[in-house]
Amino acid sequence: MTALFTPLTLRGTTFANRAWTSPMCMYACEDRTGRVTAWHRAHYAQFALGGAGLVVTEATAVLPEGRVTPQDAGLWNDSQTAAWATVTEAVHAVGGKIAVQLAHAGRKGGKYRGLPGDAHRNRSVPVEEGGWSTLGASDEPFGDYAPPRSATGDELDQVVRAFAASARRAVEAGFDAIELHGAHGYLLHELLSPVTNRREDDWGGGGRERLLVAAAAAVRVAIGDEVPLLVRVSAEDVAPGGLDAHDTARLARRLREVGVDLVDCSSGGLVAGADYSEEPGYQVPGAAVVRTEGGVPTAAVGRITDAWQAEQVLRDGSADAVMIGRAMLRDPHWARHAAAELDAPGAPVEPRYYRAWRGTVLD
Ligand code: FNR
Repeated sequence: MTALFTPLTLRGTTFANRAWTSPMCMYACEDRTGRVTAWHRAHYAQFALGGAGLVVTEATAVLPEGRVTPQDAGLWNDSQTAAWATVTEAVHAVGGKIAVQLAHAGRKGGKYRGLPGDAHRNRSVPVEEGGWSTLGASDEPFGDYAPPRSATGDELDQVVRAFAASARRAVEAGFDAIELHGAHGYLLHELLSPVTNRREDDWGGGGRERLLVAAAAAVRVAIGDEVPLLVRVSAEDVAPGGLDAHDTARLARRLREVGVDLVDCSSGGLVAGADYSEEPGYQVPGAAVVRTEGGVPTAAVGRITDAWQAEQVLRDGSADAVMIGRAMLRDPHWARHAAAELDAPGAPVEPRYYRAWRGTVLD
């Protein structure tokens, strides 16, 4: 029995294994409507075919101004909901499960996508070219991005409602689980951290957790009791004076109380120019602290590339699942290959319809 290929049940849903696809922005909605396309169907279905126990989508905006770039996916209107339904259908058709990652990019939004060869990589898109004025905890910019507008309390309440509305749409579109993007300096994280939130109203000081906790609570109400709810956090801010994993473990307890089932532990992204060392498994210790001190299931992510490495993270009790990012882009059938490497009984082998060829070509 391997840990990686032991099923995991959260509420009413059982994930066949614990090798999950990490959320990764593709910036592939070329028509800028936020509507996913046949490209996304193929993209997400390939991970499910490859045996991933859960496929988490790219950051998907809950409001137009919550997009990172004009080419981001969205889930704030009916046509986007219908488009996502074709993606969940494709993933389910090949036996997979899929979660949407709901996001509001806050002051990190409104930039050009950073695909290789694109002009203006990582600079703000001017309004006359389809950019927008961004929303932040304050009017301080992230690095050399355009400065945001400091959000009013009403606007933050509106953001909470937008997360709930998108989550409701996600269930309608057939998603098996919801993940909120509370990491990487996006709006929920920006409000959470004392580094970026120095507000003196109810959303600052002792109210720094309010936006994330209120969004999680509103989403839980919107999706009912059965659908698993995950939250991605930056377990450590990686900024002077920022939150550490012990702070995040305390937050995790509050999140659990409002109906969050698993905390997905990333790090950083809060301030420009932070110094990261990305050694293998660099964020696993954060997941371990949050799991132990927060008393909540966690996912570990970050340079987990090898089957035995992933297996060890779970056996050590650092996390309940692993999110695999770049290694899944390199090999969308990472989970299937990991199962073979670990010789895991009952683990994902090749898709059923391929089996007729077994023994005739390569064996
Ligand atoms: C990411 N990452 C990311 N994280 C997230 O929470 N939402 C997102 O939309 C994205 N987008 C994204 C795009 C691309 C192309 C990459 C490579 C990464 C971060 C990702 O989920 C993961 O946490 C990191 O890549 C670290 O894990 P790996 O890649 O070392 O397994």
